[in-house]
Amino acid sequence: MQISPSILSADFANLEAELRRVADADWAHVDVMDNHFVPNLTLGLPVVEALLEVSPVPIDCHLMIEDPDRWAPGYAEAGAQSVTFHVEAVRDAVATARAIRAAGARAAFALKPGTPFAPYADLLPEVDMVLVMTVEPGFGGQAFMADQMPKVREAREAVRRHGGEIWVQVDGGVSATTIEQCAEAGADVFVAGSAVYGAESAAGAIAELRALALR
Ligand code: DX5
Ligand code: ZN
Repeated sequence: MQISPSILSADFANLEAELRRVADADWAHVDVMDNHFVPNLTLGLPVVEALLEVSPVPIDCHLMIEDPDRWAPGYAEAGAQSVTFHVEAVRDAVATARAIRAAGARAAFALKPGTPFAPYADLLPEVDMVLVMTVEPGFGGQAFMADQMPKVREAREAVRRHGGEIWVQVDGGVSATTIEQCAEAGADVFVAGSAVYGAESAAGAIAELRALALR
């Protein structure tokens, strides 16, 4: 059970300090948005490179961008330890996943809430993680979509059948009140933005989420 706090809800003027607040986490989740794939703009490769210099935890890059075929490998080459692209945006998922892995990172594909898992099951041999979005990508602080739990179950089942160690990540609206159902459905990596950065103690929130996921 791994917790990946999303810095989308952090203070963007103090990212180094904000990364230190989540030093107890397994990952720091960095949402890259390009204002095209999603209607929001955050940060790109130069900022990720700077974060990698100072982060006490590995960086889990979630690319909500058009043309990940072109851009995703660069994040892996920069040293991001995990790079996730969206199937709705990618042209050649196999080549993109292979390029990410060739650069030494874990590769993952992400599914928006309206995108089914089954057509992408064949990609499992190419990846280390599947991300099931539990909100429409673009913004932090949105309401959790419990209707995505069957997809988490389906992904977990497929991973089990496939064998090997492939993680199932959930992202969006994950909190102390929603994490248990995610874990129960088969998720094992939990992204949480507002639930961690909105808490008085980020370390306390991470510990609480971890304990609930393990129940
Ligand atoms: C949404 C992002 C999420 C977001 C989650 O597009 O992919 O990572 O930061 O934020 P919360 O946990 O507040 O829903
Ligand atoms: Zn994300």
